[in-house]
Amino acid sequence: MGVQLSQAREKLEKYGQTHVLKYYEELSGIEQEALLAQIGNADMEMIDSCRHQEELLKRGVITPLAAMQLEEIETYRESFTATGLEAIRGGKVGAVLLAGGMGTRLGSDDPKGVYNVGITKKLYIFECLIGNLLDVVREADAWLHLFVMTSDKNHEATVSFLKEHGFFGYREEYVHFFQQKMALAVDYEGKIFLEEKGKMASSPNGNGGWFISLKEAGLLDLIHREGIQWLNAFAVDNVLQRIGDPCFVGAVIQKNCMAGAKVVRKVTPDEKVGAICLEDGKPSIVEYYDMTEELLEAKDEKGESAYNFGVILNYLFYVEELERIVSQSLPLHVVEKKIPYINEVGQLVKPEAPNGYKFENLILDMIHQVGSCLPFEVVREKEFAPIKNKTGIDSVESAQALLRRNGVEL
Ligand code: UTP
Repeated sequence: MGVQLSQAREKLEKYGQTHVLKYYEELSGIEQEALLAQIGNADMEMIDSCRHQEELLKRGVITPLAAMQLEEIETYRESFTATGLEAIRGGKVGAVLLAGGMGTRLGSDDPKGVYNVGITKKLYIFECLIGNLLDVVREADAWLHLFVMTSDKNHEATVSFLKEHGFFGYREEYVHFFQQKMALAVDYEGKIFLEEKGKMASSPNGNGGWFISLKEAGLLDLIHREGIQWLNAFAVDNVLQRIGDPCFVGAVIQKNCMAGAKVVRKVTPDEKVGAICLEDGKPSIVEYYDMTEELLEAKDEKGESAYNFGVILNYLFYVEELERIVSQSLPLHVVEKKIPYINEVGQLVKPEAPNGYKFENLILDMIHQVGSCLPFEVVREKEFAPIKNKTGIDSVESAQALLRRNGVEL
């Protein structure tokens, strides 16, 4: 049965959000029903979080967690790679592409993966990533299941683009889509924006909900059926990253860890990447803005910066461990963003500067929930070319330069 107007109004009154019904009488019957359903399903409790943000993200005691560094990796490369390839050939490794983000900083309305980074020819971000995964398929002579997370905002466009391009050579039966959840977007006073007269503004709820969404989409059954034990979750925007990297997989298996995180050596201690560490004795990631002077200056026994390794959003998780932690809640991050909205006179406004908050769970917080995590160093110039912006740092330009340096024709 649909949600009644009276029920919806009651809920909105409870949270001080009755303005959401401002245009209700102007809507068609179908639109009215859709709005009432959206109100019925929405989590409005989380909106309160923007009023007490500091309490939400209190940190425990931070201590160093040593990374496995390049030298050690080179010594054991053959052995790690053999272990990883064996796991891949046994069908035990899957990959999860986190592509539900809005990519607002890049400034395109399309999914980030359809962005063309080519210059003299077309080379799409999705094409780069699938190409990287295909390297492993060739090396192992085995296919890995690829799970692709999208959101309400980009699902259709992502699926049709990949289909149109024949999955860039990936076997379609190994590609599985699922959608993440959405969260409401509010102004600085905590009032829900309308993105249409009959629709509350919402945005993808962060990359931290990926395993819950994958499970709710019924894909865990496939994972069990296929005997997949490890999932390598990675971001859509790092065009150089190695996916299902046998050496990384093998190292995590040999070290008996529940998870692994690819990390790069920071350029400077205050570089804007999350640093891998222990928090209250458990693996964790401390965000650059939480780094105190003391942490920035701390040294390890070799005299090097103790929090010298930053994560690059490429994690390996043991599936059983993911199932253990799936019911634990993740901290909520309140993020300032530019949120398009319908103004007082019913017109759509696309703001130039941040105008409100979105609510997100982050995958990096999952690292604090797992029993153990191996930080695994990779060479930045070979594996880290994130595209966040059009120009400048972490941009299309910087990624193009790095792709070229790695012999990719643009
Ligand atoms: P970012 O943190 O860069 O966020 O995502 P974003 O939303 O894509 O970009 P901006 O901040 O609006 O410019 C890092 C990775 O996490 C995915 C992104 O697609 C990217 O691979 N992600 C992010 C999701 O899958 N879902 C989300 O809700 C947010």
